[in-house]
Amino acid sequence: MKKRVTKAIFPVAGLGTRFLPATKSIPKEIMTLVDRPLIQYAIDEARAAGIKEFIFVTSRGKSALEDYFDTAPELESALRKKGKKDLLETLKHTNMDSGAIAYVRQNKPLGLGHAVWCARRLLGNEPFAVILPDDVIAAETSCLAQMVEAHAETGGNMVAAMEVPADKISSYGVLDVKEDMGSVVSVKGMVEKPPRDEAPSNLAVIGRYILTPQVMNNLNEKKSGAGGEIQLTDAIAREIAESDNVYGFRFRGQRFDCGSKAGFLQATVTFGLARDELRDEFSAYLGELVSLQNAAE
Ligand code: G1P
Repeated sequence: MKKRVTKAIFPVAGLGTRFLPATKSIPKEIMTLVDRPLIQYAIDEARAAGIKEFIFVTSRGKSALEDYFDTAPELESALRKKGKKDLLETLKHTNMDSGAIAYVRQNKPLGLGHAVWCARRLLGNEPFAVILPDDVIAAETSCLAQMVEAHAETGGNMVAAMEVPADKISSYGVLDVKEDMGSVVSVKGMVEKPPRDEAPSNLAVIGRYILTPQVMNNLNEKKSGAGGEIQLTDAIAREIAESDNVYGFRFRGQRFDCGSKAGFLQATVTFGLARDELRDEFSAYLGELVSLQNAAE
């Protein structure tokens, strides 16, 4: 019987320099989309996929993240006294059961592969998920839940994938497709951030992975790749030659690159419009903005 995916790694050690000065004192993952920090979207997606253990790979200056998932006794008692039941309910989603969450430190920024490797002692001999919180995915069924379902059929290693424009392809891990079966593709090659004219396709890796323990073993070698960093892509690509069990999965949903300012703003607008309490006022404002712009042209 195939083992269930119950553990997920969240690499959150990055400096977030693209969002300075904000990230001088707050972790990027705590920046808010509407009223929830980025990391909450990732956690909710993982929970919806059946993840029970959440492993954060952090670094210096990320203590706000640890506090965010802890109880806040003073705040909660103040809300209780005021009878604010709805706000207490909102806070519940941020609490993690004791032992469900673990933090490991990455003490040097050596790349995504290295960050994932830092969690090696917390995993057993079972498949595990990796979620990059910068990639926010709005979907009816959580992207990771879609992958867990597809992975139950394929086994092996699976990465979320999406077609991206040619001028953006060199920012991603890119798949060389062996067989295209629709939502699932089998992969015969995988390359991290290739120059545009060397990219094997326009199918890019998006930050959701279900991986075999063997990928973690491959990371033990600590080989550096693109940009001089230890790349997760390379450790997965090794499995193509060794086990021929790497798949891409075209998810159903809209992905936002919240590692970039433009992507973050797009996500803010989309998630804002999705809120019942904001929709009318916000869409009226956007409508006005568009007519003003049209008038000025
Ligand atoms: C990482 C991965 C890359 C993937 C991307 C998706 O790159 O290394 O393979 O395509 O996430 O967002 P980063 O954006 O951290 O440079």
